[in-house]
Amino acid sequence: MREQLVRMAVEAMKKAYAPYSRYRVGAALLTKGGKIYTGCNIENAAYGPTNCAERTAFFKAVSEGERDFAAIAVVGGQEGTVNAFAAPCGVCRQVMREFCADDFEIHLWDGSEYRTCTLGELLPLSFSSANLSE
Ligand code: THU
Repeated sequence: MREQLVRMAVEAMKKAYAPYSRYRVGAALLTKGGKIYTGCNIENAAYGPTNCAERTAFFKAVSEGERDFAAIAVVGGQEGTVNAFAAPCGVCRQVMREFCADDFEIHLWDGSEYRTCTLGELLPLSFSSANLSE
């Protein structure tokens, strides 16, 4: 499954709209029900409205009614050349936190090696909906 998610993330990366940074990112998000939603980064001339690939995938899935997620694969590179791991930015980690538990898996690929981490590892001691319901 990890290899399939990474392959789909690489395909999604080809759709990136990144005329400013020229750094292309693709993501493939697996629901617990087995569906896969892909996403790419979508930049903006005003820079601030730029949306990362991971959030594109999450927002596509959540807007289709999905709430339970098992894993995401993320790949990225300048001009779409993958030669280093592209770990999710802090904002994307926080969006993952909204819907995912600590065991949510994040698969990275640097063009040759795979690396898998969990959300708990990437966002320890985080703020979440649990804080607001205490
Ligand atoms: N980017 C992502 O798509 N995901 C991340 O987690 C980090 C950064 C995008 C945003 C921007 O279009 C480009 O990469 C350079 O920051």
